[in-house]
Amino acid sequence: MNAATPRPRENQGKPHARIDARLKVTGEARYAADIALSNLAHAALVTSDIARGEVKSIFLEKARAYPGVLDVISYGDIGDLRKPRFSNSSYTSLGPLHQHTICHDGQIMALVVAETPEAAEEAASRVSAEYLPQAPTADFGSAGTTEMDAAGKVALLDEDPCVGDFSKAFEGAAVRIEADYATPTQTHNPIELFSTTAAWNDGQLTIYEPTQSVYGFRAEIAHQLGMDATDVRVISPYVGGGFGSKGPSTPRSALVSLAARRLNRPVRCIVSRSQGFTTQPYRAATRHHIKLGATRDGRLRAYSHDAWELTSRNDNYAVGGTDTTARMYAYGTVATRVRLVKADRQTPAYMRSPPELPYMFALESALDELAYALNMDPVKLRLLNDTRKDPISGKRFSSRHLKECYLKGARAFGWKRRDPRPGSMRKGDWLVGLGCATAVYPTNVAVATARVRLEANGHVRVQSGSQEIGTGIRTVAAQMAAEQLGVDLADVSVEMGDSGLPPAPVSGGSNSTASVCSAVLKACEKIRARLRHAGSADGKVKHLAQLFEKLGVGVLEEYAEFIPDGAPADAVQKLYAGQTTMVSGSERKQAMFAFGAEFVEVRIHARTREIRVPRLLGVFAAGRIMNTRTARSQLLGGLIWGMSAALHEATEIDPRSARTVNRDLQDYLIPVNADVGDVEVLMLPEVDTAVNPAGVKGLGELGNVGTNAAIANAVFHATGTRVRALPIRLEDLL
Ligand code: MOS
Repeated sequence: MNAATPRPRENQGKPHARIDARLKVTGEARYAADIALSNLAHAALVTSDIARGEVKSIFLEKARAYPGVLDVISYGDIGDLRKPRFSNSSYTSLGPLHQHTICHDGQIMALVVAETPEAAEEAASRVSAEYLPQAPTADFGSAGTTEMDAAGKVALLDEDPCVGDFSKAFEGAAVRIEADYATPTQTHNPIELFSTTAAWNDGQLTIYEPTQSVYGFRAEIAHQLGMDATDVRVISPYVGGGFGSKGPSTPRSALVSLAARRLNRPVRCIVSRSQGFTTQPYRAATRHHIKLGATRDGRLRAYSHDAWELTSRNDNYAVGGTDTTARMYAYGTVATRVRLVKADRQTPAYMRSPPELPYMFALESALDELAYALNMDPVKLRLLNDTRKDPISGKRFSSRHLKECYLKGARAFGWKRRDPRPGSMRKGDWLVGLGCATAVYPTNVAVATARVRLEANGHVRVQSGSQEIGTGIRTVAAQMAAEQLGVDLADVSVEMGDSGLPPAPVSGGSNSTASVCSAVLKACEKIRARLRHAGSADGKVKHLAQLFEKLGVGVLEEYAEFIPDGAPADAVQKLYAGQTTMVSGSERKQAMFAFGAEFVEVRIHARTREIRVPRLLGVFAAGRIMNTRTARSQLLGGLIWGMSAALHEATEIDPRSARTVNRDLQDYLIPVNADVGDVEVLMLPEVDTAVNPAGVKGLGELGNVGTNAAIANAVFHATGTRVRALPIRLEDLL
């Protein structure tokens, strides 16, 4: 940074409303499936009724004969379509129509195309199949699962972090606890349904699809269709929630493209809520075994974390292991080990805070159990074991204000009033429980590019092939350009969500604001250098006509690449080819993480055991906050989602059939407004110039980490019952 280090308070950006807020609330914002195309045909999916077996025969005649049906694509109709590549850009390696084998419930068996969505759906419902079923394996503990050690063999899991002699330290520890924890399968269910719209023009394919990565998606679709990526354009104008589910592509998109090519007209497929449960990724179920050992006065000496993550037979998707949990506290010794457990399920994928949410639930619950074993306040236990150094690598944290978050949070929440004895606090018929837990998220940054154009009338155009997934990235990118060039926010427009723009990383891992704003900043710095050259003292926009005249230009345009330390030399090239290079907070020169402290009040009815959550409070330190309003929205949503995951959400898998039972929003429980009490978000001002030029840590995935454990800990405080498997339902407390 050439600028002087800002003071913490100045490091919180203005709470500007989203620049696209008006478009969104008036319905003017066109999402991918809203784009009007002439002569559009509509497709519906046919999916399997079994989770494992062979399709002996599929009966398509009734669908073909249905009025308005244009085409049916099934086995034998896919020509030389290539199988998806399991990686960042496809969540599965399974080509559903490449073989008659069914590998998971609700697997695609056919695509029916018709003049209207209604006709396509009705015709699809008339397809039937004869199977040779096999007994499927659904879940942990089912007969027939296979287990493999994950570290070093799968993406996202290079290592099982370990340090020192855990066994010896644990044996020698004065106070020890040991417990098992579990988190369930969960399904993202963004409000905007999944969809693909494919249109061909002269051998060139345009796909309109809500995706968190237009470049990654383009590369994968081009691969499956055997095309040059430059002949494919992907447009993702707005994304109505993704949370990871729209990160990688799914096999549907290539099938819809194939149908559009066969018919020589555009085809749109909007996936039903129910089919979204089985044709898209989801959060894998996890199991944990934790041991903690401490001295009598509460100093941690030993932490071990054994974990099991459920995945498909086809692909070794890993939730991501203990990379973060192993770096949380001054443990002394650490031993971790992660196994993948393979079952007859579709491949899972990222879902908001993929490893941090389940792993921190286990760790932060275990710490609460240790606090009770020590007879120590749980906030005090965490502060006592705070660390300035990553216990695994010994690297210092570039900044870490966990302690400050706890102190501020405890004050604001009224933690002092908590009587630590379980079941001791009561209000009328309701047992009152107060709990806390730590939030954390690694500061991931990715290689990103951007173009900034300063026009003669003072208007600034920012271009980046990033995606607006609802976080407000357009707004914060505009704020960065406005601030750098000294123009009003109203004079900045931002183009995103198009693979025709300069490439940007996948909108995942909470990297976008840090990465894209850093690229925008660099492009603006280039423009400012040229303005200074023309006589602008501070490089900002003033007397533009004069400056442009001196420079002899009508417009100033600069392209910039942001490459974080730790990224390989070919990372920009890879980005153009659709591969995001993300450097995580544990891979940098210093350890880089955002932190938070969360406090929860639960009320549990003394007789019915109904669980209410009147208060959620989180204090977060996440570097520079580009926009306190959009940041607050992210953190607020995170806290509420954390509560949802703790008390409501679970995708129920029938152990006999390995089929999803609750595949709609009536049966897949999520909180309604009446379930959400006071939610308070406090942002602790923090300056960290080491993380990236923008000074941003990223917080999209920070808010929901820790909430699960804070609630479980509050439930224990209220009742004395420790629930170690999510979600916590009233029947667990009877
Ligand atoms: Mo997120 S789960 O990195 O979209």
